[in-house]
Amino acid sequence: MFGRGKRGDRRANVGPDASSRPDLHTPHPAPQYAPPLHTPNHAPHPHRPGGPDDDFTAFTHTPAPFTAADNSRPAAPHGHAVGSPAVRLEGVGKSYGSGSDAVHALRGVDLAIPRGTFTAVMGPSGSGKSTFLHCAAGLDKPDTGRVLLGDDDLTTMNENELTKLRRTRLGFVFQAFNLLPSLTVEKNVLLPLRLAGERAERRRATEVLSMVGLHDHARRRPAQLSGGQQQRVAIARALVTRPDVLFADEPTGALDTTTASEVLTLLRRAVDDTGATIVMVTHDPVAASYADRVVFLAAGRLAGHLHSPTPEAVAARMVALSQPVPSQSRAA
Ligand SMILES: Nc1ncnc2c1ncn2[C@@H]1O[C@H](COP(=O)(O)OP(=O)(O)OP(=O)(O)O)[C@@H](O)[C@H]1O
Ligand SMILES: [Mg+2]
Repeated sequence: MFGRGKRGDRRANVGPDASSRPDLHTPHPAPQYAPPLHTPNHAPHPHRPGGPDDDFTAFTHTPAPFTAADNSRPAAPHGHAVGSPAVRLEGVGKSYGSGSDAVHALRGVDLAIPRGTFTAVMGPSGSGKSTFLHCAAGLDKPDTGRVLLGDDDLTTMNENELTKLRRTRLGFVFQAFNLLPSLTVEKNVLLPLRLAGERAERRRATEVLSMVGLHDHARRRPAQLSGGQQQRVAIARALVTRPDVLFADEPTGALDTTTASEVLTLLRRAVDDTGATIVMVTHDPVAASYADRVVFLAAGRLAGHLHSPTPEAVAARMVALSQPVPSQSRAA
């Protein structure tokens, strides 16, 4: 299982040639939202500790803080308190184009993602989910507002600083796995440590591969694995640096229902067992139900939260958000 490192353990040493190294952060477009084809038939909240709670709550909700005496959940990576924000967006706005052609993808988003929690981001197609993820992960710069990773303001960093930060403090999982085909599973998993200039110990690869149940596959190449296994390797790779936050964009979008549930169970366990913080964009209400809370976006704005979500509650909310807004009375 995972050990936990300290920030001081890192030998961040990303040189000027960093940009010529393989990019693990290439996002992929997500499909349009459609209601789930399968009807979830499991009991409410099979994935999370705690009972059902379908109520909408205030945007300001954060989980109850954990005390030193409370050993029911692990501390977050790097010794930060569970429950304090891992990422904060303050008034984040992002537009594409200008003038009358401008598209306002995000319009003043304020959101705190508590450490040691699993957050799903949902919304109709074009609502700003990917833009949100890219801004929160330092892959894109907002036009207005700030993004804070812990105490560090991403919006004031230059490209080299952002590259280093992404390699050392963030993990990424995308729909298309993005494994390097010429490298073995073990080398793929250790790649983020090598890119960050840290010690890439085989023991660490074994640890994370054991967590995803693939330590027997370390010598294989990605093409010799199923899609679900490749995504589990991608999760191991994203967790190998013990990131402050793991960002996942449609991580189950290319998987069948059974394999998707294995991958989601792994993400859930990373939060519950190792204190990881996960932010996942998804179109699937069942996938979202593995999260502690769902954040909804509509037309670039926050459009509600749902804590301890059930697939049914998420699907109902998505249907409501996808309805066309009634037009104003023309007679007025
Ligand atoms: N590079 C870009 N140039 C111009 N417009 C863009 C660009 N990227 C996104 N947009 C626009 O910004 C808005 C939000 O896009 P975004 O990709 O964040 O939506 P999304 O919620 O992720 O959608 P989907 O569910 O279809 O992936 C959309 O109207 C989109 O067309
Ligand atoms: Mg998208």
